[in-house]
Amino acid sequence: MCGIIGILGSEPAAPRLLDALKRLEYRGYDSAGIATLDETGKLDRRRAPGKLKNLEAELAERPLSGNQGIGHTRWATHGSPTVGNAHPHVSAGVSVVHNGIIENFRELREELEARGHTFETETDSETIAHLIADNLKAGMSETEAVKAGLARLEGAFALAFLFEGRPDLLIGARKGSPLAIGVGEGEMYLGSDALAVAPFTNKVVYLEEGDWCVLAREAYTVFNEDGEEVDRGVTLVQGGGAMVEKGNYRHFMQKEIFEQPDSTARTIGAYVNALKQTVELPGNNGDAINWSKITSLYMIACGTAHYATRVAEYWFEQMAGLPVKTDIASEFRYREPALPKEGGLALFVSQSGETADTLAALRYCKEHGLKTAAVVNVPTSTIAREADLVLPTLAGPEIGVASTKAFTAQLSALAAVAIAAGRARDALSQDEETRLAKVLTELPRLISTTLALDEDIEALARDIAKATDVIYLGRGVHYPIALEGALKLKEISYIHAEGYASGELKHGPIALIDEETPVVFVAPYDALFDKSLSNLQEVAARRGEVILLSDSRGVKAAGDAPAHCVELPDCDAFIAPILYSVPVQLLAYHVAVEKGTDVDQPRNLAKSVTVE
Ligand code: G6P
Repeated sequence: MCGIIGILGSEPAAPRLLDALKRLEYRGYDSAGIATLDETGKLDRRRAPGKLKNLEAELAERPLSGNQGIGHTRWATHGSPTVGNAHPHVSAGVSVVHNGIIENFRELREELEARGHTFETETDSETIAHLIADNLKAGMSETEAVKAGLARLEGAFALAFLFEGRPDLLIGARKGSPLAIGVGEGEMYLGSDALAVAPFTNKVVYLEEGDWCVLAREAYTVFNEDGEEVDRGVTLVQGGGAMVEKGNYRHFMQKEIFEQPDSTARTIGAYVNALKQTVELPGNNGDAINWSKITSLYMIACGTAHYATRVAEYWFEQMAGLPVKTDIASEFRYREPALPKEGGLALFVSQSGETADTLAALRYCKEHGLKTAAVVNVPTSTIAREADLVLPTLAGPEIGVASTKAFTAQLSALAAVAIAAGRARDALSQDEETRLAKVLTELPRLISTTLALDEDIEALARDIAKATDVIYLGRGVHYPIALEGALKLKEISYIHAEGYASGELKHGPIALIDEETPVVFVAPYDALFDKSLSNLQEVAARRGEVILLSDSRGVKAAGDAPAHCVELPDCDAFIAPILYSVPVQLLAYHVAVEKGTDVDQPRNLAKSVTVE
C-alpha cells in the first residue's frame, strides 16, 4: 500500500524519483507525486491522479529541478484518489510522503486547525506535515520537530520528510510500514523496499519498528523509538537493481505465469536434495522445529497465500498426521483463538512479507508464546525478519498484482515442508519420502508441458469473457484451487466468480446454473474423480456450460458431458494441485486480456497490503 522514495543526490532528482516510483507502482496506483528542493532550496511539487504516466506527463510539461526530493505512489485509504489528495503533502515548508494510516488524525487535525492551520486535503497524511510544521514554528529544529511529532502519531506509518531551505537533509521514520535507507557514494536514499533503491545502491539499512533516521549525503543516523542512536547494520542486497522487465511478454502476469517452471524448480531445489531424494529445510533451519513435538499447526495468510495454506492443510494432515487450522489473517487475532500452551506452531505465508494483517497475526502468536515460521518470498521483509524460522520461496520479484508464480512457489515449499514434517513425525517412511521428493522434482517439467496448453486456453477464454458469472468447483485438495481460480478471474477480469467444493453444489450453487454460467471443474483423475464426475453431470443435465480441467483418463471418463476439456499431463496426485494452478491462471489471464482490463494493475487492488 503506497510506495515511498527519497533521494539526497548529486544529479537531477525528478527523473530518478520517477524511475524509482515505477518500481514501487505495484504498491498502489491511485495517484502519484514528487517534491524536490531546487538549487536555491525552494520546495516545489508535482502531483497527478491515476497511474504514474500521468505524473510523467505533468513533469514533462512542468519539470522540477534540484538534486533531492521525495516521491509517492498512492493506494487511497482516507480521501478519494484526486490530485488534491495526492502526496507529497506540504505545510509551511515541510513536505511529507506517507504509507500507512494515522488513526488519531482527526484529533490532531482539530487541534492543529484550532491553532490556525488550514488543511487542503481529506487525508490523514496531511496532518503529519502540519504537525511537524507546528513544531518548527515553536522553535524546534527539523530533527526535534520530527521526533516530537512521531511521539504524537498513532497508527502505522513509513514517512519521508523534505524541508524547504535544508538542502542536505532527509528524515525518515517507520512504524508498522516498511522503510529502508539506501547508502550510496556521496548520496543517500529512502525507499519502501530494496527494489526502490536498487538501481542506485545495493547497500541497504533496514529500519526496525519505531526507528527513525536522519540523512545527509555523506552520513546517516538511525534512532530507535526512545531516541537512542542505534546501529542497524548494512545489508548487501543481492540480485542487482535492474527494473524487472516484461521481456517479450505482453504483461508481467503472463511472464510470471511462464516463469513457473523456473521459479518452482528454484524453490524445490532449495528443499529437496535431488541426489539423496530427501527433503532438507534450507539454511540452518533443519533443527529449528521439532516436528514430533508439534501438537497443532496454525497456518495464517491473506488472499492467494491463504489459498496456498488451504492446500497445504491437506498435506500436513494426510502426510504428517498433524492437526491443522487455517485462517485468514484479518480474522485470526480478532476472534481470540484458543491457542495451545505448548506444542503450537504458527506458520505464516506471504509473498511480500509485509502484509499488515499477516504481520499483526504473527506478532499476536509470538506474544502468546507460539513458535512461528514464515514462508516468504522477500527474505528481507518484516515477516521474514520477525519469524522464528524462515522458509523461503525463490519465486523472484513478482510484479503483477495478481499472484501467480509466488503461489506455486508457496505450494512447492509447503509441499516439501509437509514431507519433512511427515518424516520427522514418523508418519512417512523413508521410501515414501524418496518417492514424494522425486515426484516434487518432476513438477517444473510438468508445468512446462501444461504451459503448452496456452493457445487452447486462450481460445476458451474468448467464450468465458462473455459470461457475467463463473463458478469454479473442486474436491479435496482441488477445492482451494477452485477458490484461487475464482479469485484470479474476479480480480483481473472483474467477472463475478465463486469457488465451491464440488460436494456443496447441490446445497445452493446449483440454483445458479443456467446456459449462461460457465462452470469450471478442477478435477484430475484421482480417488475423488467419480464423485466429481457425478457433480459434473448434475451441471450438464441443467445445461450448464461445463469446462473440465483434467488429465487423459478424466477427459475420457467425462465423455461428451463437458462443453470444453483442457487435458493436462498425467501427474502424481501429490503435486496435482500445484500443476492445476497453471490453467486457472492462464484462463483468468486470457479472459482479462480479452476484456481489455489492466491485467498487471487491476482496479482498486495493490500488491502489498500494508494497512489493515
Ligand atoms: C494482496 C495481493 C494478493 C496477495 C495478498 C497477500 O491482496 O493482491 O495477490 O495474495 O495481498 O499478500 P502477501 O504478500 O502477504 O502474499
